[in-house]
Amino acid sequence: MSCLNGTDCRETAKRRTALAILALMLAIFLILSLWSFLPSRQQALPTLIHYGEADAVQGKRVFQAYNCMGCHTIVGNGAYFGPDLTRIYADAGPAWLAAFLPSAAGWPTATAIQVQLQNATVQKEAGTADPQEYLTRYPGAAERVQQRGGRHTLMPNLPLQASEITALMAFLKYTSAMNTEGWPPKPHTDRRLPAPAQSVAAAAAAGPTSAPAPAAAAADAQDPVALGKRLVGELGCVACHATDQNRLVGPGWGGLSDSTVALADGTSVTADDNYLIESIRQPDAKLVAGYPPHVMPPYDSTLINESDMKAIVAYLRSL
Ligand code: HEC
Ligand code: HEC
Repeated sequence: MSCLNGTDCRETAKRRTALAILALMLAIFLILSLWSFLPSRQQALPTLIHYGEADAVQGKRVFQAYNCMGCHTIVGNGAYFGPDLTRIYADAGPAWLAAFLPSAAGWPTATAIQVQLQNATVQKEAGTADPQEYLTRYPGAAERVQQRGGRHTLMPNLPLQASEITALMAFLKYTSAMNTEGWPPKPHTDRRLPAPAQSVAAAAAAGPTSAPAPAAAAADAQDPVALGKRLVGELGCVACHATDQNRLVGPGWGGLSDSTVALADGTSVTADDNYLIESIRQPDAKLVAGYPPHVMPPYDSTLINESDMKAIVAYLRSL
């Protein structure tokens, strides 16, 4: 091949090499893409996975129609409000899911699982009709029943029809069957939603200023003011009340005791112990002027017993 007048032959050779490499890369890309679709890679195929009458493709449509992805992840894709669902079918099994999905606002109990195991499809898919054996076979179900059975959940109760639930089961069976190379790691079902009092206590314990727990407890036994201070932290009162006179959600506690409090109904009251206790037990009984009703929750004796109440009042008096 001849070179044009005045041009360098090496330039053309370089260009040809570059094009050849590009073509090679393109070929590799196309071959790998095709290979990723080959069933011979032993990936689970959604069309081949069934639950009852439904296959996983139908289930995926239901999953999309209800926007489950708006709160959940599958192999890490989706939103993080609810737990990842990739392995839920393998962990908790069909009877647990069949009990959970139609009444998602409450966690299934052992009895609810027993009821589902009467169903022929559930029985067949679970491989057992015996509730005890089921719980051994699906430790995720046993764990959930034990830790949360019968309790309220944060998942909305969706108006799912029976056929939609069957389809969802097929889809979740499929995601459990996918080879995800061990992803996602096992979720901590015991740590998902700590009770409010616990989390505040944990936050307080983690705070830099707090003394080690045993020492604090020992000090509390002697000093009601210290106990009261710890209690208002644990009960979450300080989220709404400042310990000085500043207004947060509720009025500040500084200088409150024995002062004269103007009430919303135009009268006023002296903040003696009875008033303080009533303000905590029934906050709406005497509403402080300038504050709306029903904001502060009532703390009855199941939440604060008499001796803890004395400690809280002692603490309020110390401010
Ligand atoms: C508005 C958000 C929201 C939507 C939409 C939603 N979920 Fe949930 N879901 C949650 C939350 C939050 C939890 C955890 C509840 C808790 O811990 O109290 C949950 C829990 C679950 C669990 C139990 C998980 C486990 O590990 O115990 C399953 C199964 C589940 N959802 C399936 C679904 C399916 C299927 C859909 C769609 C049909 C769906 N969710 C739609 C919020 C949602
Ligand atoms: C969600 C916010 C909130 C929480 C939590 C809360 N309070 Fe209140 N509290 C208020 C509001 C708002 C008022 C004023 C309206 C009223 O009188 O009910 C108030 C009023 C009071 C009063 C009367 C104050 C005054 O100036 O007369 C006392 C005492 C009090 N709270 C103590 C507590 C204690 C103790 C706790 C925890 C056990 C607590 N509160 C938790 C919002 C809260």
